[in-house]
Amino acid sequence: MKVNGAHTRTIWLSADGWSVEVIDQTRLPHRFTTSRLTSVADAARAITHMIVRGAPLIGATAAYGLALAMRDSSTDDNLADSARLLLATRPTAVNLRWVVDGLRATLESTPVHERCEIAYAQAARICDEDVAINHAIGEHGLALIEQHLQKKGSGPINVLTHCNAGWLATVDWGTALAPIYMAHDAGIDMHVWVDETRPRNQGFSLTAWELDQHGVPYTAVVDNVGGHLMQRGQVDFCITGTDRTTASGDVCNKIGTYLKALAARDNDIPFYVGLPGPSIDWSMDDGIAEIPIEERDPTEVTTMSGLSPEGELVSIQLTGHACPAANFAFDVTPARLITGLITERGLCPATPAGLRSLYPEASGDQGKSGPHRVTAKI
Ligand code: MRU
Repeated sequence: MKVNGAHTRTIWLSADGWSVEVIDQTRLPHRFTTSRLTSVADAARAITHMIVRGAPLIGATAAYGLALAMRDSSTDDNLADSARLLLATRPTAVNLRWVVDGLRATLESTPVHERCEIAYAQAARICDEDVAINHAIGEHGLALIEQHLQKKGSGPINVLTHCNAGWLATVDWGTALAPIYMAHDAGIDMHVWVDETRPRNQGFSLTAWELDQHGVPYTAVVDNVGGHLMQRGQVDFCITGTDRTTASGDVCNKIGTYLKALAARDNDIPFYVGLPGPSIDWSMDDGIAEIPIEERDPTEVTTMSGLSPEGELVSIQLTGHACPAANFAFDVTPARLITGLITERGLCPATPAGLRSLYPEASGDQGKSGPHRVTAKI
């Protein structure tokens, strides 16, 4: 997608051919800067501190993290330590696990002197594959938007989204936002309600910024507004991303997603999820019982960052200093509340049979053995 008119991915190899450049998402929307990663520790820090975030981009960053580790030392010990370091960064998005476990297995069966080169090649492949997957999700979602337009008769098509599942959360295109970009580019009158998404404000800081860069009309609303808009007929459908979707179709996504799905069901509004195959965890069925929910530092709840009148990036205290706070980063939307999953292979119901119809290679016992790598057979 574009930044100031120039095509940009969220992660790329620097001109030196080995270090890795990422967009620093902690400084958006006020500053567009990049951060250079030169070690696996840098990659782990970038994921933990959300310089990069979003399930697919976390996976891509971890892949380059292992490549940087192999450049440093391609021994078995360093491979194991680096994999452990990366896996400890964030627990919920399953992409991280499949990338680290998959790449580690590949490298373990690769001669030591070839590991660095193979790791870089695999990281580049994972990035390209993510772009292809998201592009395909966009095309399938576009067909769905065309159906909504036909039913409604005329635009605008009003979409509500939560968190950021746009191109900043992936290598390019995004998952939930890819259909919106394609519909906009196809001349469909689109309008997006952008949820603020406290505590980290991914909606205001990232979704609004990237929609703005692409010229898609949007309106920012605080997190409590969605139900009201739905009651007044101002939302045609909701669409979000996912950090982990179980084999039964339960969707774990940014905290607050569940409440939007409940409001959508009460108002008979379709609730879709942009789902890349690599975000499916075939080893789990019951998302509420099984998916690990990240709990982050409570200071993200008790403070907020923004721009001071002097133009400085500052953090302000919202609560009393001793105020106890809890910071649950994700919740689970049960499959029964989801109208459809938009995958790179097409649309399916959020049911075990629906998912298996699109990913037959993941069914049966194989799916139970752990996070399963679904390669881009789009
Ligand atoms: O905590 P974050 O910002 O990493 O959470 C991101 C989300 O919840 C996204 O919606 C999800 O990763 C899907 S991204 C295509």
